[in-house]
Amino acid sequence: MSQFAKPTGFFGKILAKGMARGHKEFYKNAIKAINPKKDDKYLEIGFGSGIFIKKHMTHVSKIAGIDHSEDMVKLASKINRKLVESGKAEFKQGNTLSLPWSDNEFTVVAAIEVFFFLNEPEKALKEILRVLKPGGRLIIEMAFNKDDGVDHKKHIKKMDLKLYSGEEMKKLLKEAGFNDIVVDYFEAVWFPIKGYIVPKGMVVKAIKK
Ligand SMILES: C[S@@+](CC[C@H](N)C(=O)[O-])C[C@H]1O[C@@H](n2cnc3c(N)ncnc32)[C@H](O)[C@@H]1O
Repeated sequence: MSQFAKPTGFFGKILAKGMARGHKEFYKNAIKAINPKKDDKYLEIGFGSGIFIKKHMTHVSKIAGIDHSEDMVKLASKINRKLVESGKAEFKQGNTLSLPWSDNEFTVVAAIEVFFFLNEPEKALKEILRVLKPGGRLIIEMAFNKDDGVDHKKHIKKMDLKLYSGEEMKKLLKEAGFNDIVVDYFEAVWFPIKGYIVPKGMVVKAIKK
């Protein structure tokens, strides 16, 4: 498994922090779609460094995260130490296929730059649906996708990605039981590699009815 799919050890921690810097513009588009409110109960799938949470989510009422890298759990807990110590945030090690929370616990779930790593996306979506409250929303952000007009052969090989088109995402989400599925695209510069343009990043939003 690549370091992008499971950052591990010293290098993994450096990479995760670097990714947070590189993902700044992706975060901007994710946050617009998440539109977090004070009374939101937020779950993040594959939080990596946890820097997105520190920067954008501290005002919500509850924060939880799951990541299969134990080192990311340590890093995100350290970066969000005050939130963890106050009992507002919890970061757990595990897989999206089995979320260690009860049914209907969250009002919003986000997966930023992670969905394309999931081996069993259908199962993961069913688990996410289970932990979302009725009316809750899911936001999936992916800079790379099948609609962006880029040849991703080398990314797929290097990072072991499974890319999706907007139509494929709609089908997957509908089959998992989601409603009101909207796929949006954005253009972004992928810092710190200046000049590297993401021509059509994807943000998918879906609701549990
Ligand atoms: C590319 S990083 C993105 C990190 C963060 N969301 C960000 O944008 O900065 C992908 C993260 O998802 C985690 N991840 C990948 N597959 C996962 C899975 N099946 N279950 C839980 N976490 C997973 C990885 O360990 C890694 O921390």
